[in-house]
Amino acid sequence: MPTPRPTYDLVIAANRLPVDKVVGDDGEVEWRRSPGGLVTAMESVMRSQPGAWVGWAGDAGEAPEPFDEDGIHLHPVPLSAEEVRDYYEGFSNDTLWPIYHDVIVPATFHREWWSSYQAVNQRFAEAVAEVAAEGATVWVQDYQLQLVPTLLRKLRPDVRIGWFNHIPFPPVELFAQLPWRAQLLEGLLGADFLGFQRQADARNFVRACRQLLGAQTKRDRVTVEGSRRQVRAAAIPISVDFQGLEELAKRPDVMARAREIRASLGDPEVLMLGVDRLDYTKGIRHRLKAYEELLSERRIGPPEVTLVQVATPSRERVDAYRLLRGEIEQTVGRINGELGKIGAPAVHYLHHSYPREEMAALFQAADVMLVTPLRDGMNLVAKEYVTCRHDLGGALVLSEFTGAWHELHQAFACNPHDIEGLKQTILRAINTPAKDKQRIMKALRRRVSDHDVQRWAARYLAALAAAPELPQPEPRNPPTPHAQETPLMPAPNESRSASSGSRS
Ligand code: ADP
Ligand code: G6P
Repeated sequence: MPTPRPTYDLVIAANRLPVDKVVGDDGEVEWRRSPGGLVTAMESVMRSQPGAWVGWAGDAGEAPEPFDEDGIHLHPVPLSAEEVRDYYEGFSNDTLWPIYHDVIVPATFHREWWSSYQAVNQRFAEAVAEVAAEGATVWVQDYQLQLVPTLLRKLRPDVRIGWFNHIPFPPVELFAQLPWRAQLLEGLLGADFLGFQRQADARNFVRACRQLLGAQTKRDRVTVEGSRRQVRAAAIPISVDFQGLEELAKRPDVMARAREIRASLGDPEVLMLGVDRLDYTKGIRHRLKAYEELLSERRIGPPEVTLVQVATPSRERVDAYRLLRGEIEQTVGRINGELGKIGAPAVHYLHHSYPREEMAALFQAADVMLVTPLRDGMNLVAKEYVTCRHDLGGALVLSEFTGAWHELHQAFACNPHDIEGLKQTILRAINTPAKDKQRIMKALRRRVSDHDVQRWAARYLAALAAAPELPQPEPRNPPTPHAQETPLMPAPNESRSASSGSRS
């Protein structure tokens, strides 16, 4: 008799596993850390408690057998080459991603992509149903899996289901463009609790349910038609592993590497740094424009000032990303050609992924960190930068259009669309006296250390555990479908201890 597969009390489902399978030209298989903030955050949460992670291994074709890595049970879900094209590159990243990020580039709608999205979400729901223990907590992640909550509830009514959106949730005026808007909302309403980065995102979701489904809503709750079940939607902003990253940044080898990086750049007076996935949401073009103008106007220039731009390869087969890469690389070439000097380029452009140690060293080496997205759910890079600055050095320039800005108000705030304003902010970040910058950095660090990723996970799981068990009684005076918006309630049961999932 085959041995039954182990099941888990805590299961997370995310499009990607924390590691990607990469097959080299010689057929050799290598596992590499997956890109993006979701993996950074969820990996540190899952390393500290037993559980399973259901996700795609990043390679088209058959899925590898489930395996354990660093205490996490990894359960790969297969995607065919067509599904990578239609579900992942297509519907997830060329339909939903632009709609959820202010339509910075136009969204593409294809009915075949939607069919593929439905099929893959069904497969994820089945995979989760297979590994979840009786009464397990299932935590579904992000925009790629919005149908999973309802699909899973049908398969496994015994489990508690949460969903967290790592990216913004759009205003109803943009969300309404989606031909499949009702199905997406109904997919999410299968959850017991829905978490968002900002209150505005949670409000956008509740409003979409009211306006597009005609659902009854009250404050942060939506009543599910037919079942009288209530689903709560609230903001619980994600964070970083402050302690773990700070420890890494304090390591003598990492600090020595930071000095070495500065020395190899010619020990500039001001080293500016950008670290982003190569994505049009990150405002890299706007940043380069402001920098180029500052150089042309001779307000700053190499070798005294230089910029390192790390641009992680991302979604390279999606047209908008391919075009962006071409544009950025052309701009960097022009800036260096026109404004660089022999031995002192104006921009050091790196299109690579680096180990965590190297990232921590880069953060420590940088005098000014440029975080200028046009729209970003959170932006963990901003929080990582302040976490690494245990010396209280450095200055953070932060776009108002990131989730991080809602917590890190003391940063040098910028509107990346306002190039003149961005230039002024960069100059202010350079020229503010060190003492004042240290005071700012201290306040930023306090915020991140008080609200780290462990606290985020604990708050989330407590809110999920507190979600109502049973259908609510019919309200006596149901609110009208267009009732006025009321502010969201803070998350209940805030606690620093994560509810522990144990293997069964
Ligand atoms: P997103 O999730 O949109 O990519 P975030 O800023 O929230 O943006 O998260 C990005 C994560 O990826 C951070 O943990 C950051 O340190 C990491 N990262 C970004 N660029 C690189 C790179 N070139 N090499 C290694 N890690 C990177
Ligand atoms: C963002 C998304 C994640 C995604 C990551 C990397 O952080 O919220 O869901 O995994 O970007 O993008 P990719 O398409 O490479 O998974």
